[in-house]
Amino acid sequence: MSGPLEGRRVVLGVTGGIAAYKAIDVCRRLVDAGAHVVPIMTEAAQHFVGTTTLGALASEPVQTELWRNPTTPIPHTVVGQGADLILVAPATAKLLSAYRTGFSHDLLTNTLLATRAPVVVCPAMHTEMWEHPSVVDNVAVLRERGVHVVDPESGRLAGGDVGAGRLADPSVIVAEVERVLGPGDLDGTTVVVTAGGTREPIDAVRVIANRSSGKQGYAVAAEAAARGAHVVLVSTVELAAPVGVEVVAVETAEEMRDAVTQRRATSDVVVMAAAVADFRPVAAAGGKIKKDDGVPEIVLEATPDILRGLGEDKPDGQVLVGFAAETDDLRANALAKLTRKNLDLIVANDVGAPHVGFSHDTNAVTLLRPDADPVEIDLASKREIARAVINTIVEIRAASRTGEL
Ligand code: PMT
Repeated sequence: MSGPLEGRRVVLGVTGGIAAYKAIDVCRRLVDAGAHVVPIMTEAAQHFVGTTTLGALASEPVQTELWRNPTTPIPHTVVGQGADLILVAPATAKLLSAYRTGFSHDLLTNTLLATRAPVVVCPAMHTEMWEHPSVVDNVAVLRERGVHVVDPESGRLAGGDVGAGRLADPSVIVAEVERVLGPGDLDGTTVVVTAGGTREPIDAVRVIANRSSGKQGYAVAAEAAARGAHVVLVSTVELAAPVGVEVVAVETAEEMRDAVTQRRATSDVVVMAAAVADFRPVAAAGGKIKKDDGVPEIVLEATPDILRGLGEDKPDGQVLVGFAAETDDLRANALAKLTRKNLDLIVANDVGAPHVGFSHDTNAVTLLRPDADPVEIDLASKREIARAVINTIVEIRAASRTGEL
């Protein structure tokens, strides 16, 4: 029986750490599982393992050169464009930093930039390096962008010290590659996600805005894409687009409503993580309002309630998800929104609590559904919150297919 790796083109990037010797085992396992393995070694990796060893086990000779590469005249793009997946094992602190910033100085870093395929990185380094704030930050950013990170294990490191930083076991690495290349639980679905705060113009230079950074919405988009969905991210902010996600830029509540409603009929899931302004100036001044003309009187009107509109006319089987940003009576207020907007799920965050909600990298939420017990998710990264939200959406879709709802 063929597995998820059969015939798939996996680029195996090996960087310069003592764990490079384990890449040989990873390579052998990938080939045994049916993958076509294209090996790339950085210059530093070759200090630890010879190209002859890796090349003998891989499906092709090892590539090391950006210049004078005998296999193709344009190696910096061709390898990444043809890949079904790129795996970097081991990934050094230097590789993580270069990948995060887009610093493409060799064949592997160019390949990482020139691909739309999923990427799995397996960091390995000494504990002090793994726990350094710059490495922690680089890993968090890569995760937010949808890169799959296989955390290192704790154990004996080169030099004899013991701690976190040892490359994950080759079986764990290959299992992650199989999971990523296997059928996702949102395969074949279209998911629309909104992110960021809307900006409602007062005049040519001033807006009514809010503190939403878009991080939570981007994390939901990245997670849904990683699970196989075609994701359209309707966004007011300019964060790095998660791998494979289509971004539609908007600014106001009205533009967001138009972008979402245009896609409503073809969407299986809509997740409104954006902080949409409830009020906007009735009319924006054409030019800049002059300070010398005195304090202006700005008359406000309600913006369209996008979610409520979607809930009033929901196609069969569509899952509609809202977020509720509350500062008091979290559950009661969120439940009222769940009912009023005819939602399948509302993700309530107490935005007055420390490290929760607007702009933070972390969040803590309660998942509320019309027909199930509330589920609390304690303080966690926004990606982990996104994972819990997507898990619940998958559950709701499965239950509705078997008629349990
Ligand atoms: O972006 P971050 O910095 O990562 O912060 C994340 C977040 C705090 C913005 C996010 O977790 C969140 O709570 N988003 C919803 C904020 C909000 O607008 O909540 P609300 O209670 O006002 O609205 C309830 C729901 O109705 C939301 O899904 C909102 O998108 C939607 N809505 C609101 C008003 C409106 N006119 N139309 C809408 O569709």
